[in-house]
Amino acid sequence: MTPAPAELRIEGLRYETGGHTLLHGIDLTARPGETVGVAGPNGSGKTTLLRCVYGTLRPTAGRILLDGRDAASLTVRERARRVAVVPQDASGTFGLTVREVVAMGRSPHKRFWEQDGPADVRRTEEALRTVGIPAFAERTFDELSGGERQRALVARALVQDPGLLALDEPTNHLDIRYQLEVLALVRGLPATGLLVLHDLNLAASFCDRLCLLHEGRVVASGTPAEVLTEEMLGEVYGVRTRIGVHPTTGAPSIVYLP
Ligand SMILES: Nc1ncnc2c1ncn2[C@@H]1O[C@H](COP(=O)(O)OP(=O)(O)O)[C@@H](O)[C@H]1O
Ligand SMILES: [Mg+2]
Repeated sequence: MTPAPAELRIEGLRYETGGHTLLHGIDLTARPGETVGVAGPNGSGKTTLLRCVYGTLRPTAGRILLDGRDAASLTVRERARRVAVVPQDASGTFGLTVREVVAMGRSPHKRFWEQDGPADVRRTEEALRTVGIPAFAERTFDELSGGERQRALVARALVQDPGLLALDEPTNHLDIRYQLEVLALVRGLPATGLLVLHDLNLAASFCDRLCLLHEGRVVASGTPAEVLTEEMLGEVYGVRTRIGVHPTTGAPSIVYLP
């Protein structure tokens, strides 16, 4: 069954740990079916924000609403039925084959003692083909290259049938062809996408809206053209750019000046 894309509303999200405030009141909305990019310099709080969204961190203040329900009131299983994650670093994969890692994505939809049924097996096979790694199914996940692992984690998220797919630097380790494939795949899913991207030109062409973080605060949000300005990138990243409109895609196109 195809899931409905989720609505995500983050309101006044604050996260503190060990006396440091990593997020200072973040507001962000992703409407059902939108692809929203999160960008910002290293250490600006992107991963912390995503961890709050998928529930590995508990916000100090503020709310995360999934389809209007406070995510804090959902069980782990309820949340896993709506939100899939492609994390920056996978854990809990030790000794598992690629097929087993991908099949884990089906578990929120099954009872905990239930074996994979024929439909689960078929979905896993399909997803391995979709991300281009069917030949690696029986290999150990931890032996794969960074890019192969990344694709297996995307396959795991696909079989989870999420309403919201959150990806932390999903194009890391991927060659340009797979970067484009993964982003097109995410955009084409009947799910809302929340993705951390470092490549601002890719973010501009694949995201409906962008949210730019700096030192734990949202400093700009809106369409790529609204967010990606020469002034803003100068201020946030300390780089000089020329930004035009790409003649083919119509998206902002950034050239970095020496
Ligand atoms: N447990 C923690 N305790 C203190 N500081 C942390 C902790 N986790 C992350 N940080 C710091 O919080 C900031 C934001 O981290 P992160 O969300 O990983 O940034 P990003 O993903 O944007 O690079 C960084 O400066 C990081 O060093
Ligand atoms: Mg990060």
